[in-house]
Amino acid sequence: MILVLLIWLLGLGVSHAEAPKKLIILGQKTKQEFQKRFDQNVLPLLEDQPSPEAFYRTTKFFMNLPRELTYWLQDKVGDYRVRVQLVALRYRDIGHMASGPVERGLIKILHQRRMRPLLLQERRRGQIWLVYLIPLKVTRHCLPCHGAHARYAREIKKHFPEDKASGLRVGNLRGAIVIEMARATFRRFVSKASKSP
Ligand code: HEC
Repeated sequence: MILVLLIWLLGLGVSHAEAPKKLIILGQKTKQEFQKRFDQNVLPLLEDQPSPEAFYRTTKFFMNLPRELTYWLQDKVGDYRVRVQLVALRYRDIGHMASGPVERGLIKILHQRRMRPLLLQERRRGQIWLVYLIPLKVTRHCLPCHGAHARYAREIKKHFPEDKASGLRVGNLRGAIVIEMARATFRRFVSKASKSP
C-alpha cells in the first residue's frame, strides 16, 4: 500500500505509450474540426478592421470551443464520457494553463524535433485514463493576436492580465487540444466501431 502511494506521489502513475490507431484518427479529426471552426469563425473577423465586437467574438469563440468540441467528440464516439480541453504552457487565459502531467507532456512535445501528438496513460484510483495531447502550432493566421504587435494588445492586457501567449512566431507551439477518457470507454468505442458495418 505504502509503495503504491509512493509510486503515485512520485508521478510514476503516468506512462507514455504508443497511441492506438483509432485514437490517432480521433485526434486528427478533432484537430481538423478545430481548424474548420477557426476558419469559419475567426478568419472572417481578421479581414475587417479591428473592432471591440470582433475581439469579443473571438474571445467567446475560444472560451466556448472546448465545450463545443467536447459535444462534437461525444457524438462521434457515441459516449458522453469523453472530454476535450484546450491547454497551453504559454496560455492567454489562465483557465487554460497546463499543469501536472499535461504540462510535462507539453514540455516533452516541445523538445521533439517535429512536434507530434503524445499519449499519456494515467492511473487514477485503479483505472487507466488516456490523456491524448495534440499540439497546435502557430500559423500566420494566429499572428494578428498571438504574434508581436498583436492587434488587440490593449484589450488583451485588460481582459487577460496573465497572458503569456503573445510575441509568438510561426512554428512555435501555441498550445494543445487534450482528449481525455477512461481506457475502458475507449475500448468500448473500438469494439462497437469494429462491429458496425
Ligand atoms: C482575433 C484574435 C485571435 C486570433 C487570430 C487567434 N487567437 Fe487564439 N486566442 C485569442 C483569445 C482572445 C484567446 C483567449 C480566449 C479565452 O479566454 O479562451 C485565445 C486563446 C487561444 C487558445 C486557448 C489557450 C489559451 O492560451 O488560452 C488556443 C489554443 C489558441 N488561442 C490558439 C490559436 C491558434 C492556433 C490560432 C491560429 C490558427 C489563434 N489562436 C488565433 C485570440 C486569437
